[in-house]
Amino acid sequence: MEIYKALLEGNRKWVEEQLKEDPNYFNDLAKGQSPQVLWIGCSDSRVPANQITGTKPGEIFVHRNIANMVVHTDMNMLSVLDYAVNVLKVRHVIVCGHYGCGGVKAAMGSKQYGLIDNWLRNIKDVYRLYKDELEAIADEEQRFDRFVELNVIEQVFDLTKTSIIQNAWKSRNQPYVHGWVYSIQTGIIKDLKVSFDSTSKIPQIYRIDIPVIA
Ligand code: CO
Repeated sequence: MEIYKALLEGNRKWVEEQLKEDPNYFNDLAKGQSPQVLWIGCSDSRVPANQITGTKPGEIFVHRNIANMVVHTDMNMLSVLDYAVNVLKVRHVIVCGHYGCGGVKAAMGSKQYGLIDNWLRNIKDVYRLYKDELEAIADEEQRFDRFVELNVIEQVFDLTKTSIIQNAWKSRNQPYVHGWVYSIQTGIIKDLKVSFDSTSKIPQIYRIDIPVIA
């Protein structure tokens, strides 16, 4: 069967199963969403937010891009973040990377892939910041794994630098931001323990908490 037909068939079966378990399943979901979590993950097909966290539709608001990046000129990411933080009022924002990430791997090398090279440049900036630590790791796989982790940590920092997060911290002491890495090989998520919930832990130069507009 052609894959697109298989998808529609899969959908039909899924609807049947959901309704068998709970006849009101779709009626209830249609009433609205109030997820407590925003997930910023990689587009990689092997890292679906709901499945790997055992959550259901309605529980996680999701943004995905190549290598789970928080790029401050990305209107898509900023719009998702603003809506999640200020309208849905999520309690947690999680950046979840994954070992074996093709985007991070490509950023480690010198090959030209096309338009995406401009996106990968943001990851190369992370490499430059941690060059000494990374190049002290002799084993290439271990260096790659660490680079994946450091990239997540930097994206968490980048979240804390946004006016969206800092204003929310000021007005409601939330959301917590977290950095995780998922292992495709084991299915286990590692918490990198880089959680933030206030500007007090971020460098002074990035704090933008004093309004100048009267
Ligand atoms: Co990836």
